[in-house]
Amino acid sequence: MSKKEVLRAANILKVYPNGIVANKKVNFSVCEGEIHALIGENGAGKSTLMKILFGMETPEEGELYVQGEKVTIDSPKKAIQLGIGMVHQHFMLVEPLTIAENIALGYEQTKGKILMDYKKVNSFAEDFAKHYEFNINVKSRIEDVSVGVKQKTEILKALVRGAKILILDEPTAVLTPQETRELFEQLNGFETKDTPSSLFPIN
Ligand SMILES: Nc1ncnc2c1ncn2[C@@H]1O[C@H](COP(=O)(O)OP(=O)(O)O)[C@@H](O)[C@H]1O
Ligand SMILES: [Mg+2]
Repeated sequence: MSKKEVLRAANILKVYPNGIVANKKVNFSVCEGEIHALIGENGAGKSTLMKILFGMETPEEGELYVQGEKVTIDSPKKAIQLGIGMVHQHFMLVEPLTIAENIALGYEQTKGKILMDYKKVNSFAEDFAKHYEFNINVKSRIEDVSVGVKQKTEILKALVRGAKILILDEPTAVLTPQETRELFEQLNGFETKDTPSSLFPIN
């Protein structure tokens, strides 16, 4: 049986206002459970394609399909609604807040309100981190943790927002060799780790 295609980009053409053709009729697709690495030199157009998939850039031509349905992804909000998550090269975390609070912020924006109840926020984040086997202390402040832990927080934030398709832009560029190995092991483990609904608090 062939695997289910979860994402397809067809004939994507992206021309920036300065005339640079960043994506020239690109075709790309991902099936369930697959991990793809997009390889190309600096300026090849990798980030541009990822930004198009996450609604941060609009292509001049081409189509996008999510779970077989033709879609328009015109904002990150829309991408998140479609189950797409993005871990940017430069993290977008609130430094003075804890890991748990940053994770809860992502949840609040899309699913419901659990903020202010710190006990709830901590146990919510802790359960999530445990389920995905992320060995982190969710009570640590972002400003006090390593780059590798910040990246884990970004990944958890995307998962908490309901990401089924996870995009990571140059995730190993900021990591040590040990952290890189750990990231790959974790991503490999994701195939069998759908998020059970019991992890989400009822609001
Ligand atoms: N916002 C932008 N405006 C104009 N040109 C851009 C913009 N972003 C990227 N580019 C250009 O588009 C090309 C592809 O860039 P990018 O997608 O960032 O490549 P990669 O991620 O593979 O290094 C490069 O020539 C880059 O200079
Ligand atoms: Mg790039």
